[in-house]
Amino acid sequence: MGRTIKSIAAALLLATAGVIAQSDMLQVDLDNTDSIRKAAKVVATNLMNYYDGDQPGRTPGILPGPPPGGPYYWWQAGAMWGTLIDYWFYTGDTQYNDEARRSLIFQAEAPSNSYMPRNWTASLGNDDQGFWGMAAMLAAETNFQNPSETEPQWLALAQAVFNTQARRWDPATCNGGLHWQIPPTNGGYNYKNTIAQATFLNIAARLARYTNNATFEEWVDKAWDWTEGVGYITKDYNILDGAHEEDNCTDLNGVQFSANAAVIIHGAAIMYNHTKSEKWETRTRGLLNRTIDHFFPEGIMIERACELQDRVQCNVDQHSFKGYMHRALATVAVVAPFTAETVVKTLRSSAAGAVQSCKADGTCGFRWNTGAYDGDVARGPAGQQMSALAALSSLLLAQDHVLRGPLTNATGGTSVGDPNAGGDVNVLQPMKPITTGDRAGAGIVTVVVLASFVGSLVWMGMGWSEGA
Ligand SMILES: *[C@@H]1O[C@H](CO)[C@@H](O)[C@H](O)[C@H]1NC(C)=O
Ligand SMILES: *[C@@H]1O[C@H](CO)[C@@H](O)[C@H](O)[C@H]1NC(C)=O
Ligand SMILES: *[C@@H]1O[C@H](CO)[C@@H](O)[C@H](O)[C@H]1NC(C)=O
Ligand SMILES: *[C@@H]1O[C@H](CO)[C@@H](O)[C@H](O)[C@H]1NC(C)=O
Ligand SMILES: *[C@@H]1O[C@H](CO)[C@@H](O)[C@H](O)[C@H]1NC(C)=O
Ligand SMILES: *[C@@H]1O[C@H](CO)[C@@H](O)[C@H](O)[C@H]1NC(C)=O
Repeated sequence: MGRTIKSIAAALLLATAGVIAQSDMLQVDLDNTDSIRKAAKVVATNLMNYYDGDQPGRTPGILPGPPPGGPYYWWQAGAMWGTLIDYWFYTGDTQYNDEARRSLIFQAEAPSNSYMPRNWTASLGNDDQGFWGMAAMLAAETNFQNPSETEPQWLALAQAVFNTQARRWDPATCNGGLHWQIPPTNGGYNYKNTIAQATFLNIAARLARYTNNATFEEWVDKAWDWTEGVGYITKDYNILDGAHEEDNCTDLNGVQFSANAAVIIHGAAIMYNHTKSEKWETRTRGLLNRTIDHFFPEGIMIERACELQDRVQCNVDQHSFKGYMHRALATVAVVAPFTAETVVKTLRSSAAGAVQSCKADGTCGFRWNTGAYDGDVARGPAGQQMSALAALSSLLLAQDHVLRGPLTNATGGTSVGDPNAGGDVNVLQPMKPITTGDRAGAGIVTVVVLASFVGSLVWMGMGWSEGA
């Protein structure tokens, strides 16, 4: 303690040599904030090559997909807009703001405005909805340009996600928890996984802090206690992936993905900031310790479960996870200052690795610890771009407007809420009665869904074959 983030950052600037840049690599001097901004812009431009929702006749807000029509599931675009809001927040570049704003409103889908668009019902998980909800919450916390009065507001959108998910909390099995999938007919509904609890907990924590309404805090406690109770958060703060309701959530899937850990530590640090309690400080410290030892073994991030020494088995989704960790940790450093020294040091060393994976045109690789672009395009490279962009942007945290912390209703946040948001949502009714043909189709849908967030486990062949 005692040392401020600014002084830590300044000390690091002096202590660390700049990246030795070869001419075909992205040129960036990590000791120079303007250079970081310029490099981030090159990477952001490259990222937006994969987005065509701004073209005539295209659907606003989404990346091409789902497979096999394109590489990306719906949630990844939600995560991308969050990444771009952070990009604006850290760099000041407003270039993508209008498109981000339009997309976050469009994909909420009127009239329910709760991020459960009918187009994506067949693969719609609580986690998918949660990633869009976290982006809307970030917009509120950063005073990102507000929607017009006739449109849904950022805070209300996050509340809609919270309200619809709280209603889906299901004590009928495993004593509680959220299902992975939203429609009961989707494959994977019987999996109560960590990421579904994590995004719910994360949004509830941020709503608790933003609105100071105790209902949200009660739900954070409930979600944490359940997730820890079933053993998804271990006593050593490993974050496991989930389990199935037919086994009363005892068949733990022990794989550890950084997205789970990132979303949870972010929520925990926010709760520490909001409650100032020892309970949340202990959890934040424990989670950070484990996160760094597990995911940053040599100071550079590795997606350990699928980024193996001799081969990369990560799917398209998992190629985007590193960015969520970098973004989450930057916020952890700000809201839980006792973590700042460790976090800033780690983000710096990991970002140095990330940058070395990028070519001069801003095409970035997946492996960050080789000192070169690895050519890994993963059938859809937006995730690699998002991760490198996040790593660069969040290096710029030592600015007054960032260090003030995420805004709240009491500290200048202007977003208007609606406690009843998502209240009369009646989506996910089958649009027509289910026929035999649909049932046969459901098998295909299952396969497709399972290829989504956790589905890689099937082809990772590690014995955790979800549904296989
Ligand atoms: C759903 O898909 C249709 C057909 O592609 C498109 O016109 C519509 O805008 C989509 N809705 C959303 C919310 O993406
Ligand atoms: C299921 O697990 C919960 C704890 O997660 C426990 O409270 C409950 O008794 C268990 N139910 C059965 C039927 O074993
Ligand atoms: C985490 O805690 C263990 C046990 O106290 C310690 O050995 C390790 O150095 C810690 N790691 C970090 C990153 O603080
Ligand atoms: C909460 O976050 C703000 C903004 O970074 C910080 O100034 C404050 O000290 C934090 N509160 C606690 C209890 O650490
Ligand atoms: C937010 O602040 C405004 C202005 O101070 C106040 O009118 C409103 O009731 C607050 N809303 C909440 C949810 O606290
Ligand atoms: C607090 O939040 C809950 C959950 O959204 C809501 O039902 C309740 O009306 C809110 N209370 C106030 C005073 O806004």
